[in-house]
Amino acid sequence: MRQHRIAVIPGDGIGIEVVAAGCRVLEASAQRDGGFALDLQPFDWGSERYRRTGAFMPADGADQLRRFDAILFGAVGAPDIADHLTLWGLRLAICQPLDQYANVRPTRVLPGIRSPLGALDPGDLDWVIVRENSEGEYAGQGGRSHRGLPEEVATDVSIFTRAGVKRIMRFAFETARARPRKRLTIVTKSNAQRHGMVLWDEIAAEVARDFPDVTHDKMLVDAMTVRMVMKPQSLDTIVATNLHADILSDLAAALAGSIGIAPTANLDPERRSPSMFEPIHGSAFDITGKGIANPVGTFWSAAMMLEHIGEGAAAARLMRAVERITADAALHTPDLGGQATTDAVTAAAVAAILGDNA
Ligand SMILES: NC(=O)c1ccc[n+]([C@@H]2O[C@H](COP(=O)([O-])OP(=O)(O)OC[C@H]3O[C@@H](n4cnc5c(N)ncnc54)[C@H](O)[C@@H]3O)[C@@H](O)[C@H]2O)c1
Repeated sequence: MRQHRIAVIPGDGIGIEVVAAGCRVLEASAQRDGGFALDLQPFDWGSERYRRTGAFMPADGADQLRRFDAILFGAVGAPDIADHLTLWGLRLAICQPLDQYANVRPTRVLPGIRSPLGALDPGDLDWVIVRENSEGEYAGQGGRSHRGLPEEVATDVSIFTRAGVKRIMRFAFETARARPRKRLTIVTKSNAQRHGMVLWDEIAAEVARDFPDVTHDKMLVDAMTVRMVMKPQSLDTIVATNLHADILSDLAAALAGSIGIAPTANLDPERRSPSMFEPIHGSAFDITGKGIANPVGTFWSAAMMLEHIGEGAAAARLMRAVERITADAALHTPDLGGQATTDAVTAAAVAAILGDNA
């Protein structure tokens, strides 16, 4: 029996609800498979812990996670705590020391889901966004001086290193190469940002020489928003900076039907540290506690996690369950225009997994 140790960090708000649902489908996946067991270890890290102790996670939190094969994360954020404290206190406090430098965000219109773009054929919107996850605009460089005085100043400095850009470009080209269309779009803003983004473009061109079988093109980030809406078929794999991909992937999620469906993986592709899997949405204060959070983004993230830890058959089974759910309008939560509850969707997913005979 294969054993996998999974750290489970639900965090805040609906993160707690969707991760509980995710654990139920993971347990069903292991039960149905029969070849592996999951040791799901919960961590109470998040805003409640911050209120109690002054820290979202223990000082050695990232090191505690190194003992695990993967991490399942919910969301962090609370109405009474500034967002930069929650993000840097927990999510980035994990991603950065564990050097999860590749953030992978698949997007496609699942069966039964209506895109705001209208009727799309399967494959018309089928993308993987690769987000640089360790530096760029979220490197944490900058500061504030002369607080409260008229001459107060604040800076956030974007950092682009040759090593950091090269590794994400290689990862993006490899991701594109592994997909049938072998097509990569490199998002940039090198017309306005003439240092870091020009280095980004130059390294993309250098790396491209090692991937002659991958077609690539370059788009300014502003024009990219238009192309995503007007010509979704023209895109396949997309690589962008930390900030650009953060924004573009929310647009991608909306075009694919709902932010509640969208998954993500924070990968250390070299597997020196555990990778972290999470829905892309936040803690959603407006629906917390109502039992209507869409758990599909967490299910899809859990499928990516199963794939990553070597349980490809269970991952495929879980994705088949997800597609059966989305195809049934009676199982749509309110974000998709339906009335289903988190619990009903989860129960249906568990039943689909346990009943899967493929
Ligand atoms: N990875 C993370 O931990 C993460 C990501 C984004 C935002 N946040 C934090 O979450 C808090 C709320 O942020 P926000 O409102 O900008 O974004 P959000 O993703 O929490 O919510 C945006 C909108 O989408 C809806 N929504 C999100 N997920 C849903 C789901 N699974 N099912 C149904 N509807 C869903 C919400 O109800 C809300 O109307 C903030 O504190 C923010 O910093 C955390």
